[in-house]
Amino acid sequence: MSISIKIAQYIEKASWIRKMFEEGARLRAERGADNIFDFSIGNPSTEPPAALREELLRLAREPVPGMHRYMSNAGYQETRQAVADHLSRKTPQRVAAGQVVMTCGAGGGLNVVLKTLLNPGEEVIILAPYFVEYLFYIDNHGGAARTVATRPDTFELDLDAIEAAIGANTRAIILNSPNNPTGVIYSADSLQALGELLTRKERELGRTLFVLSDEPYARLAYDGHQVPCIFSHVKNSVIITSHSKDLALPGERIGYLAVNPAMEEADQFIEGAVFCNRVLGFVNAPALMQRLVTRLQDQSVDIADYQKKRDLLYAHLRSCGFRTIKPQGGFYFFPESPLKDDVAFARLAQQHNILLVPGQGFGAPGHFRIAYCVETDLIHRSLPAWENLARDAGLL
Ligand SMILES: Cc1ncc(COP(=O)(O)O)c(C=O)c1O
Repeated sequence: MSISIKIAQYIEKASWIRKMFEEGARLRAERGADNIFDFSIGNPSTEPPAALREELLRLAREPVPGMHRYMSNAGYQETRQAVADHLSRKTPQRVAAGQVVMTCGAGGGLNVVLKTLLNPGEEVIILAPYFVEYLFYIDNHGGAARTVATRPDTFELDLDAIEAAIGANTRAIILNSPNNPTGVIYSADSLQALGELLTRKERELGRTLFVLSDEPYARLAYDGHQVPCIFSHVKNSVIITSHSKDLALPGERIGYLAVNPAMEEADQFIEGAVFCNRVLGFVNAPALMQRLVTRLQDQSVDIADYQKKRDLLYAHLRSCGFRTIKPQGGFYFFPESPLKDDVAFARLAQQHNILLVPGQGFGAPGHFRIAYCVETDLIHRSLPAWENLARDAGLL
């Protein structure tokens, strides 16, 4: 069998993910699962809030007639209303149910939005380090990814670099805050400055520039940090998010997109998104999950527990000499690699039973990613291994 040349090349391009995964499986079999410290995958170890189970039991006991049937491709009205009410509490604007489309996770939502917006060959700016799937999602819909680096050391928005990348072919920019892999939350001031830049460029170019705000980590913010709502800063903006992380439901594929009520032709955008949800084959977001999350819009997993994990590992990494910013949100660290070659460093880490992802997988070589959405006990048990790794890499 021969698959398409493009897909074969993409698989090769993303092969470090597979290699890390296979290496992890081999090490577990060889050294025992308990002896491997797997920080490579952003799959939350935490369970969903207890209220989810209650809702599930309630629905099983009192099923709604027709609850497994097809529905409007945008999702249940009641669910869209609950999401709209939640968003309306975060922004001065009133978001309506009609401005929300339920999606199969943020991944599904991003594909819906890109398909809705992109004409062939139009560019989408992504900020490095980035979530690697953006490259493939943009290509799925005939677009071209244009990579712009964030500021060295802080990973904040580099507005000059963004401005320089905007041209006649630019359609959108994807933001991700709190960020995977850096943990940075973009401040209200920097989002405001971005909004002003985009308005100026829109006037100059005579075309609309969209901000696609990918926010699956929005409720995972620490030290009292708030994630500013993009709707307050950028008129032509769309929020794309999910309950994969905040309710720990990544396997259930439930999320949504919401359009800024102030966006020009917001109704047309929603009409396009509903159509794309259908023709991409998602048809609609899972029915049962929509019913479940309707009453859980203000719930989340235990954020304080994530913060404790972050603090524990941060203090230890620093004491071992690793250079890293303190993440404000999400559940990743993105430290500098002590070895110039981050793949060589990830291999060295494996010798110490630690699994990580090299920074080049995120378009930012010279770093590595730690996913700390693991059991606290695993973090505790891994501390000596981090110290030995630091020593081996010349940090101690
Ligand atoms: C930045 C970012 N965007 C989107 C996604 C996709 O999330 P979902 O499970 O909601 O599709 C992820 C998943 O890890 C992510 O890290």
